[in-house]
Amino acid sequence: MRDKKTENYYSKRAPEYEQIYFRDMPDRRKEIADEVDYIKELCAGKNVLDIACGSGYWTERISETASSIVACDISDEMLEIAKNKQYYCPVDFVRANLNQLPFESNSFDIVTLCFWFSHHPKQDYNNLFKNITDPIKPESPVKANCPLWLIDNNPPAEGSVNQTHHIDDHGNNFKKRFLDNKKEFIILKNYFEKDELMNIFSPYFEIKRLVYGKYYWSVMLNPIQ
Ligand SMILES: C[S@@+](CC[C@H](N)C(=O)[O-])C[C@H]1O[C@@H](n2cnc3c(N)ncnc32)[C@H](O)[C@@H]1O
Repeated sequence: MRDKKTENYYSKRAPEYEQIYFRDMPDRRKEIADEVDYIKELCAGKNVLDIACGSGYWTERISETASSIVACDISDEMLEIAKNKQYYCPVDFVRANLNQLPFESNSFDIVTLCFWFSHHPKQDYNNLFKNITDPIKPESPVKANCPLWLIDNNPPAEGSVNQTHHIDDHGNNFKKRFLDNKKEFIILKNYFEKDELMNIFSPYFEIKRLVYGKYYWSVMLNPIQ
């Protein structure tokens, strides 16, 4: 289930995308810094698949400890920015649609999906979970068997532009987003209470860790076989 509007929005936003990570809000940056520390430690010595890698913010950080990374995204503009960064382990970039990933089953220790889940249509979670867990090795050697990591944001990270445009029949929230040049886009962007996250993930996964901060949430999941 491709969403061309969201794809187009992120391709156009690519040059300014990473501003979100560097806003002058110490408590917000601390939440991200803590998650960076966590995922870097978990990825140490592992081969990682970073799905919807964007401009490579997380890829870059994970590369400090991982043994290798495959990073994929649908946007050429995002991939171009990501490819021009410096990495500390071998990183292969692949243009790929997360709904039809071109990777072999059972081939990665850890899969990361950063800041995508909130854009995914609620009615398609079943397919999303199938697609992103298929590349994970069944016996992932990751400590405590934590092979799938997701991070995303809560409304306070969106500042004053958190206005709903409409909600569709599936309960998906659509909102306006603006680029620096004021160009307007309407994209799917869902927000979740902690309990909602647990209800969404628990039929499919053992929830090994759930951090629900003011600005961000993250989950470490182990697929139920
Ligand atoms: C919010 S950004 C997240 C980027 C990066 N993971 C991060 O956390 O900084 C969402 C990314 O999803 C990508 N994307 C949108 N639709 C996609 C699709 N169908 N398959 C793969 N990537 C997609 C966009 O190009 C964009 O880079």
